Amino acid sequence: MSTRKIIIDTDPGQDDAVAILLALASPELEVLGITAVAGNVPLALTQKNARIICELAGRADIPVYAGCDAPLSRTLVTAEHVHGKTGLDGPQLPDPVMPLQDGHAVDFLIRTLRAQEAGTVTLCPLGPLTNIAMAFQKAPDIVERVQEIVLMGGAYFEVGNITPTAEFNIYVDPQAADIVFKSGAPITVVPLDVTHKALVTKPRNDAFRAIGTPVGQAVALMTDFFERFDREKYGSLGAPLHDPCVTAYLIQPGLFTGRHVNVEIETASELTLGMTVADWWGVTDRAPNANFLGDIDADGFFTLLTERLARL
Ligand code: BDR
Ligand code: CA
Repeated sequence: MSTRKIIIDTDPGQDDAVAILLALASPELEVLGITAVAGNVPLALTQKNARIICELAGRADIPVYAGCDAPLSRTLVTAEHVHGKTGLDGPQLPDPVMPLQDGHAVDFLIRTLRAQEAGTVTLCPLGPLTNIAMAFQKAPDIVERVQEIVLMGGAYFEVGNITPTAEFNIYVDPQAADIVFKSGAPITVVPLDVTHKALVTKPRNDAFRAIGTPVGQAVALMTDFFERFDREKYGSLGAPLHDPCVTAYLIQPGLFTGRHVNVEIETASELTLGMTVADWWGVTDRAPNANFLGDIDADGFFTLLTERLARL
């Protein structure tokens, strides 16, 4: 089996944590490193949470770097109302012992993309796109070396979750998202249209707990905590596993369908800041720049996820 090299750029976040666990459990993926960014909670917590999750998976060998602590040109907006004070509220997990790597995440991204063979490293952003945009600005030569960017962000049919028209990751740093979507790198977008169908219903949560390991237990408790927000807001059946859809797409792309369309980011309007304007219906002549996913085989996704988490 050929493995795909990935860098996970993340702001854990319970769903980021599950995405990382799925990647670390899957032999199809080689995690070259994890880069933390400010998003769901401030950077001091996201870099710590990334290390907590590596240790939970028994993978203290994964290099974790801290990146940008604020968006390119805006004040940081966080989401403790969804993820709790720590970002990983739910289970009681020990503080990490493994070190944070020296140096900035952006420099790790640049160095790694230059060192690896061109076209062999996939970037997996699960939070605001600040680190990725900063790396592209600092070292434009790396853009064409990226195999693909598979990111969680945006929405078309679901429109928004942090404002009426914007999804959280894009809203936090629309300028960064604009840079990434205009970069010319191949992009696959996993929007809310997909992730709002990946719901941890009661039987799916029971299946995590039934794994009977510390990982299964932690994922059950994280998704218990994380679901209350979406239940109250949308009346949904459970927590949407946004970010793990990115990892699942890399492992089993056949679980998803989408369209190759143009996606542009609203960076100016106060009313619709951070909106992902996806030309789903092909009504403009703007050139397609992204594979925008629209649907998921949710049962297949949870079967994959539960089976893989049981390996850790
Ligand atoms: C995204 O925002 C965060 O709250 C989640 O971790 C996910 O990446 C969903 O809008
Ligand atoms: Ca996230």
